[in-house]
Amino acid sequence: MNLLVIGGGGREHAIIKKLRENPRVSTIYALPGNGGISLDATCVPEIGAKGIPAIVEFAKTHRIDFAVVAQDDPLALGCVDRLHELNIPCFGPDSKAARIEASKVFSKNLMQKYGIPTARYEVFDDPRAALSYLQAQSFPIVIKADGLALGKGVLIPQNYAEAQEAIRSIMEDKTFGESGNRIVIEEFLTGPEVSVLSFTDGRTIVPMVSSMDHKRAGDGDVGPNTGGMGTVAPNPCYTPEIAQICMETIFLPTIRAMEAEGCPFKGCLYFGLMLTPTGPKVIEYNCRFGDPETQVVLPLLKTDLLTVMEAVENERLHELDVQWLDASAACVILASGGYPGHYEKGKAMSFPDTFPQNITCYHAGSKMVDGQLFTNGGRVLGITAVAPTLTEALQDAYATAQTIHFDGKYMRRDIGQRALKAMEEK
Ligand code: AMP
Ligand code: GLY
Repeated sequence: MNLLVIGGGGREHAIIKKLRENPRVSTIYALPGNGGISLDATCVPEIGAKGIPAIVEFAKTHRIDFAVVAQDDPLALGCVDRLHELNIPCFGPDSKAARIEASKVFSKNLMQKYGIPTARYEVFDDPRAALSYLQAQSFPIVIKADGLALGKGVLIPQNYAEAQEAIRSIMEDKTFGESGNRIVIEEFLTGPEVSVLSFTDGRTIVPMVSSMDHKRAGDGDVGPNTGGMGTVAPNPCYTPEIAQICMETIFLPTIRAMEAEGCPFKGCLYFGLMLTPTGPKVIEYNCRFGDPETQVVLPLLKTDLLTVMEAVENERLHELDVQWLDASAACVILASGGYPGHYEKGKAMSFPDTFPQNITCYHAGSKMVDGQLFTNGGRVLGITAVAPTLTEALQDAYATAQTIHFDGKYMRRDIGQRALKAMEEK
Protein backbone atom coordinates (compact mmCIF):
# COMPACT_ATOMS: atom_id res chain seq x y z
CA MET A 1 0.00 0.00 0.00
CA ASN A 2 1.04 3.60 -0.60
CA LEU A 3 0.26 5.90 2.30
CA LEU A 4 0.22 9.68 2.49
CA VAL A 5 0.78 11.55 5.75
CA ILE A 6 0.17 15.32 5.87
CA GLY A 7 2.34 17.18 8.38
CA GLY A 8 5.96 17.34 9.42
CA GLY A 9 6.46 17.29 13.18
CA GLY A 10 7.05 14.85 16.01
CA ARG A 11 3.43 13.75 15.95
CA GLU A 12 3.67 12.82 12.27
CA HIS A 13 6.92 10.96 12.92
CA ALA A 14 5.21 8.92 15.66
CA ILE A 15 2.27 8.14 13.34
CA ILE A 16 4.61 7.13 10.50
CA LYS A 17 6.75 4.85 12.68
CA LYS A 18 3.62 3.11 13.89
CA LEU A 19 2.13 2.75 10.38
CA ARG A 20 5.43 1.20 9.24
CA GLU A 21 4.80 -1.77 11.54
CA ASN A 22 2.09 -3.01 9.16
CA PRO A 23 3.59 -5.39 6.52
CA ARG A 24 0.98 -4.26 3.94
CA VAL A 25 2.62 -0.81 3.88
CA SER A 26 5.19 -0.34 1.13
CA THR A 27 5.70 3.42 0.63
CA ILE A 28 4.83 6.27 2.99
CA TYR A 29 4.95 9.78 1.58
CA ALA A 30 5.21 12.63 4.10
CA LEU A 31 4.18 16.15 3.00
CA PRO A 32 6.32 17.99 3.95
CA GLY A 33 7.93 15.60 6.52
CA ASN A 34 11.30 16.61 7.96
CA GLY A 35 14.94 15.51 8.12
CA GLY A 36 14.44 12.73 10.67
CA ILE A 37 11.19 11.57 9.11
CA SER A 38 13.09 11.06 5.83
CA LEU A 39 14.72 8.02 7.48
CA ASP A 40 11.26 6.40 7.71
CA ALA A 41 9.30 7.91 4.80
CA THR A 42 9.67 9.64 1.43
CA CYS A 43 9.47 13.34 2.30
CA VAL A 44 8.42 16.11 -0.09
CA PRO A 45 9.66 19.30 1.59
CA GLU A 46 8.37 21.45 -1.29
CA ILE A 47 4.73 20.65 -0.44
CA GLY A 48 3.66 22.27 2.83
CA ALA A 49 0.79 20.94 4.93
CA LYS A 50 -1.34 23.99 4.06
CA GLY A 51 -0.86 23.70 0.29
CA ILE A 52 -4.13 21.88 -0.44
CA PRO A 53 -4.00 22.14 -4.29
CA ALA A 54 -0.43 20.77 -4.35
CA ILE A 55 -1.37 17.97 -1.92
CA VAL A 56 -4.33 17.01 -4.10
CA GLU A 57 -2.17 17.06 -7.24
CA PHE A 58 0.42 14.86 -5.52
CA ALA A 59 -2.25 12.39 -4.39
CA LYS A 60 -3.62 12.15 -7.94
CA THR A 61 -0.27 11.20 -9.40
CA HIS A 62 1.03 8.84 -6.70
CA ARG A 63 -1.69 6.16 -6.40
CA ILE A 64 -2.37 6.76 -2.73
CA ASP A 65 -4.30 3.97 -1.00
CA PHE A 66 -4.83 5.73 2.32
CA ALA A 67 -4.12 9.23 3.64
CA VAL A 68 -3.67 10.50 7.19
CA VAL A 69 -4.19 14.24 7.64
CA ALA A 70 -2.51 14.90 10.97
CA GLN A 71 -2.26 18.69 11.27
CA ASP A 72 -5.00 21.16 12.22
CA ASP A 73 -4.73 23.69 9.34
CA PRO A 74 -5.14 21.23 6.44
CA LEU A 75 -8.06 19.62 8.27
CA ALA A 76 -9.76 23.01 8.70
CA LEU A 77 -8.94 23.87 5.07
CA GLY A 78 -10.80 20.79 3.82
CA CYS A 79 -7.90 18.51 2.88
CA VAL A 80 -9.95 15.40 3.76
CA ASP A 81 -12.95 16.69 1.76
CA ARG A 82 -10.73 17.14 -1.32
CA LEU A 83 -9.04 13.74 -0.98
CA HIS A 84 -12.42 12.05 -0.54
CA GLU A 85 -13.52 13.66 -3.84
CA LEU A 86 -10.68 11.64 -5.42
CA ASN A 87 -12.03 8.52 -3.66
CA ILE A 88 -8.94 8.29 -1.48
CA PRO A 89 -9.76 6.83 1.95
CA CYS A 90 -8.57 9.15 4.74
CA PHE A 91 -8.10 9.31 8.47
CA GLY A 92 -9.21 12.71 9.75
CA PRO A 93 -12.38 14.80 10.01
CA ASP A 94 -13.83 16.78 7.11
CA SER A 95 -13.78 20.57 7.35
CA LYS A 96 -17.27 20.77 8.89
CA ALA A 97 -16.30 18.43 11.72
CA ALA A 98 -12.87 20.11 12.11
CA ARG A 99 -14.72 23.25 13.31
CA ILE A 100 -14.76 21.60 16.73
CA GLU A 101 -11.16 22.83 16.98
CA ALA A 102 -11.04 25.56 14.33
CA SER A 103 -13.77 27.66 15.99
CA LYS A 104 -13.91 28.07 19.76
CA VAL A 105 -17.32 29.70 19.35
CA PHE A 106 -18.59 26.60 17.52
CA SER A 107 -17.26 24.24 20.19
CA LYS A 108 -18.49 26.32 23.16
CA ASN A 109 -21.98 26.64 21.61
CA LEU A 110 -22.02 22.89 20.93
CA MET A 111 -21.19 22.13 24.57
CA GLN A 112 -23.78 24.57 25.84
CA LYS A 113 -26.52 23.23 23.56
CA TYR A 114 -25.87 19.59 24.50
CA GLY A 115 -25.11 20.07 28.20
CA ILE A 116 -21.46 18.98 27.99
CA PRO A 117 -19.57 20.28 31.06
CA THR A 118 -17.27 23.22 30.27
CA ALA A 119 -16.36 26.65 31.64
CA ARG A 120 -19.16 29.28 31.61
CA TYR A 121 -18.57 31.74 28.75
CA GLU A 122 -19.68 34.69 26.64
CA VAL A 123 -18.84 35.47 22.98
CA PHE A 124 -17.87 38.97 21.75
CA ASP A 125 -17.04 40.52 18.41
CA ASP A 126 -16.97 44.10 19.71
CA PRO A 127 -14.04 45.10 21.94
CA ARG A 128 -16.11 47.74 23.77
CA ALA A 129 -18.79 45.23 24.72
CA ALA A 130 -16.07 42.82 25.88
CA LEU A 131 -14.50 45.50 28.08
CA SER A 132 -17.74 46.53 29.70
CA TYR A 133 -18.53 42.85 30.42
CA LEU A 134 -15.08 42.40 31.96
CA GLN A 135 -15.66 45.32 34.36
CA ALA A 136 -18.16 43.20 36.30
CA GLN A 137 -16.09 39.98 36.34
CA SER A 138 -13.66 38.49 38.85
CA PHE A 139 -10.09 37.54 37.95
CA PRO A 140 -8.22 35.58 36.74
CA ILE A 141 -10.37 35.10 33.67
CA VAL A 142 -9.69 33.36 30.35
CA ILE A 143 -9.78 35.07 26.94
CA LYS A 144 -9.58 32.95 23.79
CA ALA A 145 -9.35 33.93 20.13
CA ASP A 146 -12.06 32.16 18.11
CA GLY A 147 -9.90 30.60 15.38
CA LEU A 148 -6.72 28.54 15.08
CA ALA A 149 -3.78 30.38 16.62
CA LEU A 150 -1.03 27.74 16.76
CA GLY A 151 -2.19 26.79 20.25
CA LYS A 152 -1.29 30.27 21.48
CA GLY A 153 -4.65 32.05 21.32
CA VAL A 154 -5.36 31.84 25.07
CA LEU A 155 -4.64 34.67 27.50
CA ILE A 156 -5.29 34.57 31.25
CA PRO A 157 -5.35 38.15 32.62
CA GLN A 158 -5.01 38.48 36.40
CA ASN A 159 -6.79 41.85 36.67
CA TYR A 160 -8.81 44.36 34.66
CA ALA A 161 -5.75 46.23 33.37
CA GLU A 162 -4.27 43.02 31.94
CA ALA A 163 -7.66 42.13 30.47
CA GLN A 164 -7.81 45.52 28.69
CA GLU A 165 -4.37 44.84 27.29
CA ALA A 166 -5.44 41.32 26.19
CA ILE A 167 -8.53 42.61 24.38
CA ARG A 168 -6.46 45.27 22.61
CA SER A 169 -3.83 42.76 21.57
CA ILE A 170 -6.27 40.10 20.26
CA MET A 171 -9.05 42.26 18.77
CA GLU A 172 -7.29 45.45 17.70
CA ASP A 173 -3.61 44.62 17.13
CA LYS A 174 -4.68 41.19 15.77
CA THR A 175 -1.78 39.38 17.46
CA PHE A 176 -3.40 36.08 16.44
CA GLY A 177 -4.50 37.38 13.03
CA GLU A 178 -8.10 37.16 11.84
CA SER A 179 -8.72 34.42 14.41
CA GLY A 180 -9.10 37.27 16.92
CA ASN A 181 -12.12 38.92 15.25
CA ARG A 182 -14.32 37.07 17.71
CA ILE A 183 -13.37 36.04 21.20
CA VAL A 184 -14.67 33.81 23.95
CA ILE A 185 -14.34 35.04 27.53
CA GLU A 186 -14.67 32.20 29.98
CA GLU A 187 -14.55 31.27 33.61
CA PHE A 188 -11.12 30.30 35.02
CA LEU A 189 -11.19 26.64 36.09
CA THR A 190 -8.79 24.86 38.42
CA GLY A 191 -7.65 21.27 38.82
CA PRO A 192 -5.28 18.76 37.19
CA GLU A 193 -5.27 18.72 33.39
CA VAL A 194 -5.61 15.49 31.43
CA SER A 195 -5.33 14.90 27.68
CA VAL A 196 -7.48 12.11 26.29
CA LEU A 197 -7.12 11.32 22.60
CA SER A 198 -9.75 9.05 21.10
CA PHE A 199 -10.47 7.13 17.92
CA THR A 200 -13.99 7.71 16.67
CA ASP A 201 -15.87 6.78 13.50
CA GLY A 202 -18.73 9.13 14.36
CA ARG A 203 -20.74 6.53 16.30
CA THR A 204 -18.27 4.46 18.32
CA ILE A 205 -15.61 6.15 20.43
CA VAL A 206 -12.51 4.41 21.75
CA PRO A 207 -10.46 6.53 24.15
CA MET A 208 -6.69 6.04 24.00
CA VAL A 209 -4.40 5.87 27.00
CA SER A 210 -4.60 9.18 28.91
CA SER A 211 -1.63 11.53 29.01
CA MET A 212 -0.22 14.67 30.64
CA ASP A 213 1.40 17.54 28.75
CA HIS A 214 3.92 20.08 30.13
CA LYS A 215 3.09 23.30 28.31
CA ARG A 216 5.26 25.89 30.03
CA ALA A 217 8.85 26.43 28.91
CA GLY A 218 10.45 26.28 32.36
CA ASP A 219 10.89 23.79 35.21
CA GLY A 220 8.13 24.03 37.80
CA ASP A 221 5.61 25.05 35.10
CA VAL A 222 6.80 28.64 34.80
CA GLY A 223 7.59 30.80 31.77
CA PRO A 224 5.80 31.17 28.46
CA ASN A 225 3.41 28.63 26.94
CA THR A 226 4.97 26.34 24.32
CA GLY A 227 3.65 23.65 21.99
CA GLY A 228 4.54 21.19 24.78
CA MET A 229 7.91 20.35 26.42
CA GLY A 230 7.21 16.75 27.34
CA THR A 231 4.49 14.23 28.07
CA VAL A 232 3.82 11.13 30.12
CA ALA A 233 1.22 8.38 29.75
CA PRO A 234 -0.90 7.17 31.38
CA ASN A 235 -1.91 10.21 33.45
CA PRO A 236 -2.18 9.08 37.11
CA CYS A 237 -4.92 11.66 37.85
CA TYR A 238 -7.21 9.92 35.36
CA THR A 239 -8.66 7.05 37.40
CA PRO A 240 -11.05 4.41 35.99
CA GLU A 241 -13.91 6.16 37.87
CA ILE A 242 -13.12 9.50 36.22
CA ALA A 243 -12.77 7.75 32.85
CA GLN A 244 -16.28 6.36 33.29
CA ILE A 245 -17.70 9.81 34.13
CA CYS A 246 -15.94 11.31 31.10
CA MET A 247 -17.33 8.61 28.81
CA GLU A 248 -20.89 9.27 29.99
CA THR A 249 -20.86 13.06 30.36
CA ILE A 250 -18.33 14.16 27.73
CA PHE A 251 -17.12 11.64 25.14
CA LEU A 252 -20.38 10.02 24.01
CA PRO A 253 -22.41 13.25 24.28
CA THR A 254 -19.81 14.99 22.09
CA ILE A 255 -19.88 12.52 19.23
CA ARG A 256 -23.70 12.32 19.43
CA ALA A 257 -23.87 16.13 19.35
CA MET A 258 -21.66 16.25 16.26
CA GLU A 259 -23.84 13.68 14.53
CA ALA A 260 -27.01 15.58 15.51
CA GLU A 261 -25.50 18.78 14.07
CA GLY A 262 -24.97 17.04 10.73
CA CYS A 263 -21.19 16.89 11.01
CA PRO A 264 -20.25 13.48 12.44
CA PHE A 265 -16.62 13.44 13.57
CA LYS A 266 -14.33 10.76 12.12
CA GLY A 267 -10.69 10.59 13.11
CA CYS A 268 -8.83 11.40 16.30
CA LEU A 269 -10.81 13.61 18.65
CA TYR A 270 -8.67 15.10 21.42
CA PHE A 271 -10.27 16.10 24.71
CA GLY A 272 -8.32 18.62 26.80
CA LEU A 273 -9.91 18.12 30.21
CA MET A 274 -9.65 19.75 33.59
CA LEU A 275 -10.59 17.67 36.64
CA THR A 276 -12.31 20.43 38.61
CA PRO A 277 -13.73 20.12 42.14
CA THR A 278 -17.17 19.87 40.49
CA GLY A 279 -16.17 17.17 38.01
CA PRO A 280 -14.32 16.83 34.69
CA LYS A 281 -14.83 19.69 32.25
CA VAL A 282 -13.72 20.32 28.67
CA ILE A 283 -11.01 22.98 28.30
CA GLU A 284 -10.64 22.43 24.58
CA TYR A 285 -11.23 20.00 21.75
CA ASN A 286 -8.65 19.31 19.07
CA CYS A 287 -9.63 17.65 15.81
CA ARG A 288 -6.37 15.69 15.59
CA PHE A 289 -3.69 13.86 17.54
CA GLY A 290 -1.94 16.06 20.14
CA ASP A 291 1.72 16.92 19.87
CA PRO A 292 3.67 15.72 21.94
CA GLU A 293 0.92 13.51 23.45
CA THR A 294 1.05 11.23 20.39
CA GLN A 295 4.72 10.49 21.11
CA VAL A 296 3.73 8.73 24.38
CA VAL A 297 0.30 7.38 23.41
CA LEU A 298 1.05 5.56 20.13
CA PRO A 299 4.09 3.68 21.49
CA LEU A 300 1.66 2.06 23.98
CA LEU A 301 -0.79 0.97 21.26
CA LYS A 302 -0.67 -2.81 20.76
CA THR A 303 -3.27 -3.04 17.98
CA ASP A 304 -2.08 -2.25 14.46
CA LEU A 305 -2.59 1.50 13.81
CA LEU A 306 -3.47 1.22 10.12
CA THR A 307 -6.16 -1.37 10.96
CA VAL A 308 -7.69 1.04 13.50
CA MET A 309 -7.54 3.95 11.06
CA GLU A 310 -9.21 1.90 8.31
CA ALA A 311 -11.94 0.83 10.76
CA VAL A 312 -12.55 4.53 11.57
CA GLU A 313 -12.82 5.43 7.88
CA ASN A 314 -15.10 2.44 7.15
CA GLU A 315 -17.25 3.13 10.25
CA ARG A 316 -16.51 -0.30 11.67
CA LEU A 317 -14.68 0.70 14.84
CA HIS A 318 -17.16 -1.27 16.96
CA GLU A 319 -15.75 -4.48 15.46
CA LEU A 320 -12.25 -3.89 16.89
CA ASP A 321 -10.87 -4.59 20.33
CA VAL A 322 -8.18 -1.89 20.59
CA GLN A 323 -5.44 -3.05 22.98
CA TRP A 324 -2.81 -1.13 24.95
CA LEU A 325 0.46 -2.14 26.61
CA ASP A 326 0.32 -2.25 30.39
CA ALA A 327 3.35 0.06 30.70
CA SER A 328 4.32 3.73 31.04
CA ALA A 329 5.78 6.10 28.47
CA ALA A 330 7.67 9.37 28.92
CA CYS A 331 8.70 11.87 26.23
CA VAL A 332 11.27 14.61 26.82
CA ILE A 333 11.43 17.36 24.20
CA LEU A 334 14.85 18.67 23.17
CA ALA A 335 14.32 22.26 22.05
CA SER A 336 16.44 25.05 20.57
CA GLY A 337 17.63 27.51 23.22
CA GLY A 338 15.30 30.55 23.29
CA TYR A 339 12.15 28.66 22.19
CA PRO A 340 9.26 29.68 22.22
CA GLY A 341 10.86 33.10 21.65
CA HIS A 342 13.69 33.73 19.22
CA TYR A 343 16.01 30.77 18.55
CA GLU A 344 18.63 29.76 16.00
CA LYS A 345 18.37 26.95 13.46
CA GLY A 346 20.91 24.96 11.48
CA LYS A 347 22.92 23.45 14.37
CA ALA A 348 24.58 20.12 13.58
CA MET A 349 23.21 17.27 15.68
CA SER A 350 25.11 14.24 16.94
CA PHE A 351 23.55 10.98 18.04
CA PRO A 352 24.78 7.77 19.68
CA ASP A 353 25.35 4.89 17.20
CA THR A 354 22.34 3.00 18.55
CA PHE A 355 19.49 3.71 20.94
CA PRO A 356 18.44 1.33 23.73
CA GLN A 357 15.66 -0.98 22.61
CA ASN A 358 12.92 0.80 24.62
CA ILE A 359 13.79 4.26 23.25
CA THR A 360 12.43 6.04 20.17
CA CYS A 361 13.78 9.34 18.92
CA TYR A 362 11.05 11.35 17.15
CA HIS A 363 12.03 14.31 14.99
CA ALA A 364 9.93 17.46 15.36
CA GLY A 365 12.16 20.06 13.67
CA SER A 366 15.19 18.70 11.84
CA LYS A 367 16.66 18.92 8.38
CA MET A 368 18.87 16.54 6.42
CA VAL A 369 21.70 18.11 4.42
CA ASP A 370 24.16 15.77 2.67
CA GLY A 371 23.39 12.95 5.07
CA GLN A 372 23.88 15.10 8.18
CA LEU A 373 21.02 16.14 10.48
CA PHE A 374 20.65 19.79 11.54
CA THR A 375 18.18 21.53 13.85
CA ASN A 376 15.36 23.24 11.99
CA GLY A 377 12.75 24.35 14.53
CA GLY A 378 11.93 25.33 18.10
CA ARG A 379 11.07 21.84 19.19
CA VAL A 380 13.72 19.62 17.63
CA LEU A 381 13.41 16.07 19.01
CA GLY A 382 11.20 14.06 21.32
CA ILE A 383 12.91 11.23 23.21
CA THR A 384 10.38 8.62 24.27
CA ALA A 385 11.00 5.69 26.60
CA VAL A 386 8.55 2.87 27.33
CA ALA A 387 9.09 0.98 30.59
CA PRO A 388 7.14 -0.97 33.22
CA THR A 389 6.91 2.10 35.49
CA LEU A 390 6.87 5.86 34.95
CA THR A 391 9.99 6.26 37.12
CA GLU A 392 11.95 3.92 34.84
CA ALA A 393 10.55 5.50 31.66
CA LEU A 394 11.66 8.94 32.85
CA GLN A 395 15.12 7.69 33.84
CA ASP A 396 15.61 6.04 30.47
CA ALA A 397 14.31 9.01 28.42
CA TYR A 398 16.59 11.44 30.30
CA ALA A 399 19.60 9.08 30.04
CA THR A 400 19.26 9.02 26.24
CA ALA A 401 18.53 12.77 26.06
CA GLN A 402 22.03 13.30 27.56
CA THR A 403 23.65 11.41 24.69
CA ILE A 404 22.31 13.67 21.92
CA HIS A 405 24.06 16.95 21.26
CA PHE A 406 23.52 20.22 19.40
CA ASP A 407 24.43 23.83 20.19
CA GLY A 408 21.84 25.48 22.40
CA LYS A 409 20.06 22.22 23.32
CA TYR A 410 17.41 22.95 25.96
CA MET A 411 15.08 20.62 27.84
CA ARG A 412 12.97 20.76 30.96
CA ARG A 413 14.48 18.67 33.77
CA ASP A 414 11.22 17.97 35.58
CA ILE A 415 9.01 16.19 33.04
CA GLY A 416 6.85 13.67 34.90
CA GLN A 417 7.48 15.05 38.40
CA ARG A 418 3.90 16.33 38.69
CA ALA A 419 2.64 12.87 37.73
CA LEU A 420 4.93 11.11 40.21
CA LYS A 421 3.71 13.45 42.96
CA ALA A 422 0.08 12.72 42.05
CA MET A 423 0.86 8.99 42.36
CA GLU A 424 2.35 9.45 45.83
CA GLU A 425 -0.74 11.37 46.95
CA LYS A 426 -3.10 8.61 45.78
P1 AMP B 1 -4.98 25.90 24.91
O1 AMP B 1 -4.06 26.76 24.10
O2 AMP B 1 -6.42 25.99 24.51
O3 AMP B 1 -4.47 24.48 25.04
O4 AMP B 1 -4.95 26.49 26.37
C1 AMP B 1 -3.71 26.66 26.98
C2 AMP B 1 -3.85 26.45 28.44
O5 AMP B 1 -4.65 27.47 29.02
C3 AMP B 1 -4.55 25.14 28.83
O6 AMP B 1 -3.71 24.05 28.79
C4 AMP B 1 -4.97 25.49 30.25
O7 AMP B 1 -3.89 25.29 31.13
C5 AMP B 1 -5.27 26.97 30.17
N1 AMP B 1 -6.72 27.18 30.12
C6 AMP B 1 -7.51 27.22 29.02
N2 AMP B 1 -8.79 27.44 29.37
C7 AMP B 1 -8.83 27.54 30.72
C8 AMP B 1 -9.86 27.76 31.70
N3 AMP B 1 -11.13 27.94 31.35
N4 AMP B 1 -9.49 27.79 32.99
C9 AMP B 1 -8.20 27.64 33.37
N5 AMP B 1 -7.20 27.43 32.51
C10 AMP B 1 -7.49 27.38 31.20
N1 GLY C 1 -0.20 19.32 23.08
C1 GLY C 1 -1.38 20.03 22.81
C2 GLY C 1 -1.79 20.06 21.40
O1 GLY C 1 -1.38 19.27 20.58
O2 GLY C 1 -2.58 20.93 21.04
